[in-house]
Amino acid sequence: MKVIVAEDAGFCYGVKRATKAAFDAAAGVDGPVFTLGALIHNPQVVARLEREGVHAAKSLDEIGPGLAIIRSHGLPPDTKKALEERAGRVLDLTCPTVKAVQQRAADLAAAGYRVVIIGDRYHPEVQAIAGYAGPEVLIVNSEEEASAVPEGERIGVVMQTTHAAEACRRIAGALLDKAREVRVFNTLCDATSKRQHAALELAAKVDVALVVGGHNSANTGRLAELCRKLGARTYHVETADELVPAWFEGVSTVGVAAGTSTPDWIIEEIVARLKSWGDSRARTKTAE
Ligand code: F3S
Repeated sequence: MKVIVAEDAGFCYGVKRATKAAFDAAAGVDGPVFTLGALIHNPQVVARLEREGVHAAKSLDEIGPGLAIIRSHGLPPDTKKALEERAGRVLDLTCPTVKAVQQRAADLAAAGYRVVIIGDRYHPEVQAIAGYAGPEVLIVNSEEEASAVPEGERIGVVMQTTHAAEACRRIAGALLDKAREVRVFNTLCDATSKRQHAALELAAKVDVALVVGGHNSANTGRLAELCRKLGARTYHVETADELVPAWFEGVSTVGVAAGTSTPDWIIEEIVARLKSWGDSRARTKTAE
């Protein structure tokens, strides 16, 4: 059985940077280390961090004196301030790409634009950007919501970095009617789209597509959905232990794709497990 890993798979730059820094902090810092919310949408990484002493707090109330880590999604300024007051020390691991969007939103608001963020209002990255975007900020996630934006003189549009490009195009189009001046900034990060293209390219040429990543990871779930839409037999697994041998009966090629929050070690474990099954099948055939 041949196992092919997608060209772009696993941790993006921002997640890799944040994860490495969190493990380094766990090893090098005396006293408690916290993250506000899970560092990334991958339960295995979060569990490893917990074992190393990095506690994922569900709310500010769980954070006491120590080092508090801001994850790659960023935080609104008032929450960041509250975190600093509670923990005393803060390590800001906001992804630089997200930071640039926060700055863009702040600049637009300061220049008198009503900032409109295209994205999911419940996503922490969007909530963080909104904190920089002035009091008139609006968050829209559909053309209907865009058409409900009040008409004004000037609108500045930014996008959740991981949002779908096609949806952003449509929603930004609907906002054009809303003001005499509409400035649209393409703030999408290509890490997600690169993984999507790589997964689709792979799914088109294998018998089974495996998408690896947290069941709670939206970008991994989206990868699996895209592969299925393409017609590929697709399974979404979090770890090697979720693999079922029957899925690979009579299969000659398996493609492995992974979202931006999937670490290399989980991808490697999956590949090793698949290869060991492929090898034992080959040996059985030879023995026959
Ligand atoms: Fe940053 Fe893009 Fe990843 S915005 S956290 S590098 S998906």
